Amino acid sequence: MTPPPKTFHVKSFGCQMNVYDGERMGELMAAEGMTATADADAADLVVLNTCHIRERATEKVYSDIGRIRKNARVQGREPMIAVAGCVAQAEGAEIVARAKVDVVVGPQAYHNLPGLVARAASGAPVLDTDMPAESKFGALPRRRRVGPSAFLTVQEGCDKFCTYCVVPYTRGAEVSRRMAAIVDEAKALVDAGAREITLLGQNVNGWRDADRNGLEALIHALDRIEGLARIRYTTSHPNDMTDGLIEAHVSVEKLMPFLHLPVQAGSDRVLKAMNRSHTRDGYLRLIERIRAARPDIALSGDFIVGFPGETDAEFEETLSLVDAVGYAQAFSFKYSPRPGTPAAAMDGAVPAQVMDERLQRLQAALNRDQAAFNAASLGRTCTVLIERKGKLPGQMLGKSPWLQSVHLMTDAGVGDLVEVEVVRADPNSLAGVERVRAAA
Ligand code: 5AD
Ligand code: SF4
Repeated sequence: MTPPPKTFHVKSFGCQMNVYDGERMGELMAAEGMTATADADAADLVVLNTCHIRERATEKVYSDIGRIRKNARVQGREPMIAVAGCVAQAEGAEIVARAKVDVVVGPQAYHNLPGLVARAASGAPVLDTDMPAESKFGALPRRRRVGPSAFLTVQEGCDKFCTYCVVPYTRGAEVSRRMAAIVDEAKALVDAGAREITLLGQNVNGWRDADRNGLEALIHALDRIEGLARIRYTTSHPNDMTDGLIEAHVSVEKLMPFLHLPVQAGSDRVLKAMNRSHTRDGYLRLIERIRAARPDIALSGDFIVGFPGETDAEFEETLSLVDAVGYAQAFSFKYSPRPGTPAAAMDGAVPAQVMDERLQRLQAALNRDQAAFNAASLGRTCTVLIERKGKLPGQMLGKSPWLQSVHLMTDAGVGDLVEVEVVRADPNSLAGVERVRAAA
């Protein structure tokens, strides 16, 4: 028996959906009367909301648990530890066996967290990695206080089964939340302070309502919410990028001109081995159509270098695709095998040194394009949503419509929309001067 925890700390790793899940877990525990603490070493309950995408993710979770225990022991304390997220789903009971944690809860079961914590406090460790048919969202409390830019999960899971990826196994099959529930949550977020909402899904543009209408139907519905100024969505799959969604980038002013559309690789052979179900040419033609509709759109992507069997020539095709697209920003990773995925059993491992070299060359190209994209903003005037204070007195930080970080001197507050002229462009951010304050 341990006394029920009074304070908690949630530590989220990985994607934006994990950040969202972590916030919701925090809200659940606050609703049970527990208090959040920013200091992980002082909390009665530490929730590690884990990610399984990156290399050695599982090992990092075990070393984190060891460190938390050690820091607490120095103070004569023994906090309760809960492991949530995709590593919890993938490892399950193994975590209890190996690290003796109190709670293991999967991404589709975290609405049960307070109950699991209470049960663990009265005895043995508890595990919940169920993927219930009914949605966890109905069991979550209403959102009360959020920043100006908020996340909202609208779709979860993935049926695409790219051969390198664990998501279809850890997050389960593709499920769309119902339109009415999403609109309700969006209104609550706006009431709680959000001006911008980013719709989240592993395959967000695969969202469908009960009548099989696509994401644009949801975007049109959110467009009508008064007080909501900006809508974004991520992550999209090229095969679900419909004409209707592209058209929404023209007709919905609140929909920001930014699209995260991972391609992963530039060679058709590699794309096929990845089971990406699109070709290089198909992707490039799609980008052309999107740009024809919305010429100023900022494109972002994900890349994997060193997929099993990737040759030098095939890697060059990734570089030439990058040159052809001109990304505003992008994420790039070295391939790392995930146990249980088809690619983990493929031959042709790329040597570490070759992998490093390819990543460096790819990142150099992506950085060059990001700097060029930012440089092209110089002299432009755009609206900036102020998100937080900067380091200097009077300085505030916010985001342009194209998701660039902008800093400026202003007396505008967090959540204000400010018209800004871009006076300096650095590779990772812009500096602006305030022109006109937009009406709130
Ligand atoms: N190895 C390397 N990168 C991966 N990603 C997903 N799985 C792996 C893996 N096994 C990358 C993909 C995906 C992003 C979220 O993480 O690029 O789009
Ligand atoms: Fe993973 Fe592919 Fe699904 Fe993205 S589309 S979550 S990379 S399986």
